[in-house]
Amino acid sequence: MTTDSRSLEEILSRPPLTRGEIVELLSLPDPAPLFQKADQVRKKFVGDAVYLRGLIEFSNYCKNDCLYCGIRRSNANAVRYRMTPEEIYRTARQAVQNGYKTVVLQSGEDWWFDADKIASIIRQIKELGAAVTLSLGEKTREEYACYRKAGADRYLLRIETTDKALYETLDPQMSWDNRVRCLEDLKELGYEVGSGSLVGLPGQTAESLAEDLLFFKSLPVDMAGIGPFIPHPDTPLAQEKAEGHFELALKMMAIMRLILPDINIPATTAMETLHPQGRLLALQCGANVIMPNVTAETFCRNYALYPGKAHSAPSAAAAWNESLAAIGRTVSDGYGFHGDYLKSRN
Ligand code: 5AD
Repeated sequence: MTTDSRSLEEILSRPPLTRGEIVELLSLPDPAPLFQKADQVRKKFVGDAVYLRGLIEFSNYCKNDCLYCGIRRSNANAVRYRMTPEEIYRTARQAVQNGYKTVVLQSGEDWWFDADKIASIIRQIKELGAAVTLSLGEKTREEYACYRKAGADRYLLRIETTDKALYETLDPQMSWDNRVRCLEDLKELGYEVGSGSLVGLPGQTAESLAEDLLFFKSLPVDMAGIGPFIPHPDTPLAQEKAEGHFELALKMMAIMRLILPDINIPATTAMETLHPQGRLLALQCGANVIMPNVTAETFCRNYALYPGKAHSAPSAAAAWNESLAAIGRTVSDGYGFHGDYLKSRN
C-alpha cells in the first residue's frame, strides 16, 4: 500500500504526510490501522480526558443561503426563533451549574445580535467562570475585536471546503477569501481558533479534502471539527445521499490527529446522526471533545441544519462519565485549552 516508497506503517508513524499520502489514507479500504494510530496519538498528545463544551444554539435566523444548510435564508419551512439575552444567560448559568467549563454560543448570521448585545452576553457569562466559545459566522475584524475585549476565548468558523469554486457554488454570495480573512483576523486577535470541513459534499474530491487538512495545518488551527454532510429535505441538495460520509469523516478526523497531534478535535453531532454510537466511535479514532447541546428543546428542535440532529435535554457533565468510562475515558474538569495537556506533563 504505497504511493512512492513508504509503507502504510511508515506513513502512519512518520509525519509529515504528503498530499498524496493523505489521499491514499482517505481511500484505505481497511481504515482500522489508521484509526488505531490516531487513537494512540490522541492518548499521547491530549490524554484520556474528554472536554465537554455546552452548546447553546440561540438563534436560527441567517442572512446566508448555503445550499446544504437547513436554516438557509430561503427555507420558508424553517420555524425561526431567537432566544433573548436573558434566556441565553440563564441557559449558560445552568450549564455551568451542571459542570460545564465552556459555553459555546452558536447562531446563524443574525443581524439582530449586534456587537454590543453579544459583548454584553459574553461579559455576563464570563462572570460565571466559564470559558466562552463563539460560533456566529463571518463578522468584521472590529466585531471580532469587540467580542474578544469582552472576554471571548475561542471562535469556531469552519472553512467548509478549501475548494474555492465549490465553496462559492454552495455558499452563494459568500466569498471564500473573506472566510479566510475572518480566520486570520481571529488568530491575530488572540482567539483560539477552531475551523473544520464538511465531508461528502457533491463535487468534493479526495484531493480537496487533503487540501483542507493542509490548510488547517498552515493556519494552524487550535481545533477542527469534521462533519459528514447530511442532505436536508428542504434544501436544493435534498436529493443527495449520505452513504459513506460517516466513514470518510472518521478517516479525515483520524488523519487530522496525525497531522496536528495536540489540537482539540470534537466528535461531531452529525457523526452521531449517521451512526448511533458515532460520537463514542469518533472518540476512539482521534477525537477528544464533545459538544453536548444544552439548549432548551423548544428552541433547538428548530435549529435543524440537517435532519435527525441529536438534541438532548440539558444534562449534567457528570452524566457523561458512565458512557465514557466504558471506553476507558473520563470527563475533564479543566478548561481544555490547546496544549494544556502537554504543559501539565512538563
Ligand atoms: N449536514 C451536515 N452539517 C451541516 N452544516 C450545515 N449544514 C449541514 C448539513 N446539511 C454544518 C456546517 C456549519 C455547521 C454549524 O453545521 O459545517 O459550519
